[in-house]
Amino acid sequence: MAARNRQWVLAERPVDRAVRSSDFRMVETPVPEPKPGEFVTRVIYSSLAPVMRFYMLDGAAGEKPLEMGEVMRGRAVGQIVASRHPAFKEGEIVQGKMGWQEYAVSDGSPYWMMYKVHQRIVPVSTALGVLGMTGFTAYFGLFDIGKPKTCEMVLVSGAAGGVGSSVGQVAKIAGCSVVGIAGGPDKCALLTSKLGYDAAIDYKADDVTAALDRLCPKGIDVFFDNVGGPILDAALSRINKYARVVSCGGISQYIAGTKDPYPLKNAYLIGRLNALLQGFFIYDFEARFAEAEQAMAGWIKDGRLTYQEDILDGFERMPEALIRLYQGANRGKQLVRVSADPF
Ligand SMILES: NC(=O)c1ccc[n+]([C@@H]2O[C@H](COP(=O)([O-])OP(=O)(O)OC[C@H]3O[C@@H](n4cnc5c(N)ncnc54)[C@H](OP(=O)(O)O)[C@@H]3O)[C@@H](O)[C@H]2O)c1
Repeated sequence: MAARNRQWVLAERPVDRAVRSSDFRMVETPVPEPKPGEFVTRVIYSSLAPVMRFYMLDGAAGEKPLEMGEVMRGRAVGQIVASRHPAFKEGEIVQGKMGWQEYAVSDGSPYWMMYKVHQRIVPVSTALGVLGMTGFTAYFGLFDIGKPKTCEMVLVSGAAGGVGSSVGQVAKIAGCSVVGIAGGPDKCALLTSKLGYDAAIDYKADDVTAALDRLCPKGIDVFFDNVGGPILDAALSRINKYARVVSCGGISQYIAGTKDPYPLKNAYLIGRLNALLQGFFIYDFEARFAEAEQAMAGWIKDGRLTYQEDILDGFERMPEALIRLYQGANRGKQLVRVSADPF
C-alpha cells in the first residue's frame, strides 16, 4: 500500500461563477488504517457529476454543504485493501461516497451508500456509469416518471452525457421513437451512430423549435430534461396532451439560474394539456437499485444497451474533469482513473 493518501479539498466556493481548478487544493495525509468495524478502499475510478458545484456551495438534496478544507464529496469505485469489518472483505470491489481521495476509510454505515459490485460482465468503471447512479437515474427517471408507452415520441436533452447516453437506448428498448439534443456535430453523430437515437438536434447550431417540428411532427409524449432553460421551453412548446416532462436536471441554470432564472414562456401548457412535470432524486429509489442494475446489466449482456465513458487518467485531473461537465467537453459518463484497474 502507498504511504500517502492524496486528497482534493475545498479551497474556494464558486459563488455566482463557474467552478475553477483553484477552488480545490491537493493535500497529503497518511493512508488510513481501519479501526474495528472499518475498512479501507483503494479508489480505482472516481465519478464526476454536475451536482458537485452545489456540494461546494450550499449542499444539495439533503447533503450538508462542504466545510472549507473538507475532502470533496463524490462517489468512486475501488477495491478493499484492508478490513476489520465483518461484511466487507479484503479484495472485494465496492462503490460508494468515497470522496476525492486515493484511499477512503468507511464503517459501511448508510451515509456511505457502499454497495458491493456484483455485475462483472463489464469494466468496474461501469459501476459509476451505466450500472451505477448515472444509469439508475436514466432508468427510474424514464420508467417511473416518464412512463413511456410503445410508439410514443421521447425527447432527451443532454443526450450525449452520462445520463442521456443511457436514456435514449432504454427508451428504444421500451419501443419508442427517440430524438436527442446535444451540443455540436460530433456529439450528434455519436447519438445516432452508437447511442440508439433515431435523430439528433445540435442546439448550438440548429433552431431547436424548427428541428422539433421536423423530427417530432406529432409532438412529444415524454421529455427527459437534463438541462432546463431555453431547451426546456422549446420542448414544452411542442408537448402533447398528457405528456410527461421528467425534470432530471437543469445544468444550463446551475450558475445563472439562482439569481436570474430563465423565464419559461411555455410552462402554462402543462396545465392546458393535462401534462405532468416532475423532478426526482435518484437516492429516493435506493430500495430498487438492484432492479435497475439487473435490468441494465441484462440489456448489456444481450447487446441491446451499450455505454459511453469519458475517462481521464490521473488523480491530479479531478478538478479538470469536473469543469469539463459544465463546458460540455465530456462524451458520456465523466470519470477519472485514479489507480490501475486490476481487471
Ligand atoms: N435527479 C437526479 O437525481 C439526478 C441524478 C444524476 C444527475 N442528474 C442531473 O442529470 C443531468 C445530467 O447529469 P450527468 O452526470 O449525466 O452530466 P452530463 O450530461 O454527462 O454532463 C453535463 C452535460 O450538460 C451539457 N450542458 C452543459 N452546459 C449546458 C448548457 N448551458 N445548456 C445545455 N446543455 C449544457 C453538456 O453537454 P452539451 O455538450 O450537449 O451541451 C455536458 O456534457 C444534470 O443536470 C444532473 O444534475 C440528476
